[in-house]
Amino acid sequence: MSLDLTAARARFPALADGFAYFDNAGGSLVLRDVVERISEYLLTTSVQTGASYVHSVRASERLAASRASIARFVNAARPEEIVLGPTTSMMMRLLATSMAARFSPGDEVIVTNFDHESNIGPWHILERQGVVIKVWSIEKETFAVDLDALRTLMTPRTRLVAVTHASNILGTINPVAEIAKIVHAGGALLAVDAVAYAPHRAVDVQASGADFYAFSFYKTYGPHFAVLWGKHDQLLELDSQYHYFYGRDKVPTKLEPGNANYELAWGCTGIVDYFDELGGGTGDRAAIERAFAAVTAHEAVLGERLLSYLRDRNDVRIIGDRHAPTATRVPTIAFKVDGRRSDEIVRAVDKDRIGIRFGDFHSRRLVEDLGLSDGAGIVRVSMVHYNTVEEVDRLVLSLDRALTA
Ligand SMILES: Cc1ncc(COP(=O)(O)O)c(C=O)c1O
Repeated sequence: MSLDLTAARARFPALADGFAYFDNAGGSLVLRDVVERISEYLLTTSVQTGASYVHSVRASERLAASRASIARFVNAARPEEIVLGPTTSMMMRLLATSMAARFSPGDEVIVTNFDHESNIGPWHILERQGVVIKVWSIEKETFAVDLDALRTLMTPRTRLVAVTHASNILGTINPVAEIAKIVHAGGALLAVDAVAYAPHRAVDVQASGADFYAFSFYKTYGPHFAVLWGKHDQLLELDSQYHYFYGRDKVPTKLEPGNANYELAWGCTGIVDYFDELGGGTGDRAAIERAFAAVTAHEAVLGERLLSYLRDRNDVRIIGDRHAPTATRVPTIAFKVDGRRSDEIVRAVDKDRIGIRFGDFHSRRLVEDLGLSDGAGIVRVSMVHYNTVEEVDRLVLSLDRALTA
């Protein structure tokens, strides 16, 4: 099944303005269905859940349906494993806070230097109570993850490893299932940030092997809202962040203090239904997988188009894999041009109604460790399935003008 690009693009009203959006890893465009559901929810169902009157019953049903829909999207074993919240940064902080009491001085947590700060900083907070934070670093020349280096870092005191499923700079998809085996063999838990992965591939939390897994819907065609999935038995072990009467078994609500945002949860069902339709509309997990297989194939073409241009230039250093192997790369493409500041390049491209971006993208430790932080950082072009080959060609022309100026 191939992607019906015209039909897909028609679902994103913002695309009608002719602007070429290549800052999708910063935030994707929103599906019309999502916006309409949020609006409809607020206009018809905006009452508190849990009461016996008809509108409240309907609100409760819709919240339950939203959780079930998101559970299907990520292939969770049960809807109770879906914790809803505002952002991935907040979800990771919530997770670290909910686990803090079980760490003793001298326990170890392994973070990476290739994650977004939202899956590094929250774990550093545990240092205050004597937890030792160790860093798993990327190979500087090849940008590859070294699983042996992780094995070496693991000790009997390792309690948790925090790693990204895909880097928001390198575009590399990390082998989380293999990582999970190493982590679990060492008796530790695995927390995965999938923000840069979820817009591009069918999320399968069970296949990931992770214990906790989070991503943000505003980068996955929806609103500013996020999900933290956790294995049910692991969620039970987390400390409640809600009132005292939300005890151990109140999963997931003990982790949603003050309630989840109902209208945004309902809006997110529009994302799932969209991918279901792209995948043939069979209403099952297979439809989601078919849709993302089509997305993957299209994105590989887009990615290769830009990468081949960048590879041909002697003055460009691609920060990540130089090719677009579908198994291990999403089309989030970062680069640095010799002797040029990244901000100048991006501002030149801005004029052509093309949105790309410069900076460190909050993966500051990676950009610093690679020696790329000169104030303007690197250039990032982040594509998703609604981008077209014509848009990439426009970008290549624009970049070519900027680089030869
Ligand atoms: C890989 C990655 N993880 C986490 C985040 C943070 O997500 P949020 O803004 O929902 O906290 C981002 C945002 O750019 C990201 O790219």
